[in-house]
Amino acid sequence: MARITAGVATSHVPAIGAAIDNGKTREPYWQPVLAGYDFSKRWIDAQKPDVVLLVYNDHASTFSLDIVPTFAIGCGESFKPADEGWGPRPVPEVQGHPELAAHIAQSVIQQDFDLTIINKMDVDHGLTVPLSLMFGQPQAWPCRVIPFAVNVVLYPPPSGRRCYELGRALRRAVESFDEDLNVQVWGTGGMSHQLQGPRAGLINREWDNHWLDRLIDDPEPLSRLPHIEYVREAGSEGVELVMWLIMRGALDTRVEVIHRFYHVPASNTAVGHVILENAK
Ligand code: DHB
Ligand code: FE
Repeated sequence: MARITAGVATSHVPAIGAAIDNGKTREPYWQPVLAGYDFSKRWIDAQKPDVVLLVYNDHASTFSLDIVPTFAIGCGESFKPADEGWGPRPVPEVQGHPELAAHIAQSVIQQDFDLTIINKMDVDHGLTVPLSLMFGQPQAWPCRVIPFAVNVVLYPPPSGRRCYELGRALRRAVESFDEDLNVQVWGTGGMSHQLQGPRAGLINREWDNHWLDRLIDDPEPLSRLPHIEYVREAGSEGVELVMWLIMRGALDTRVEVIHRFYHVPASNTAVGHVILENAK
């Protein structure tokens, strides 16, 4: 059977992608950001996941305001990097896993979560920057990736509670797939940041780190945090953090912290990153 072997969470700042693509990662501004992922690259190289179920948000790249699905699963063979205004990032195409994705869609929809099925789409920095942070700059991504898009751009995003429960449903789906696959679930976006309005530039280190503590040790009550607290404490884009709760819901209540990193600033964002495994 397929197994979920780990959860990974990371911020997805587009400027990190630009720094990697333009050879600037040794600059004093970027070096400490990338240093937080040195361990992670070695760890994932040893883990060799077959598939990453990558929970991310599209930033009006594939979904315009014409159609905004709350939850959408990429069931296609492959997904190209999106052109976000400066041409597509020079990173490999993402190879999907249509069989597992279709199984997850079937299982999760039967568990009463409505998913939009996407057979063709481009993937933006929300998905490609986490891949670059974890895998560096390979010729081809070393595993299959199932894009799982969550609306956190147009109000209302799904509640943290629903995201956490969805994580549980995804776990049941993966664990009922009849092939021996090493699957990781990633939650991306966050941590505190606000890109517009009078509070643009907001960062809240204390709140972010307390949120991380609760994500690790006490996820149930954390999942009940209302949106307004994310927006007030972590800024309007801080609400991207609900996607981390999908990853967390796919793991056991007790987890082991394999790696934890926090750094400010990266562009306008507080970068957070954790690797979690079910406690032995
Ligand atoms: C930034 C952060 C984001 O999450 C995003 O989607 C776009 C920009 C930033 O910090 O610049
Ligand atoms: Fe974002």
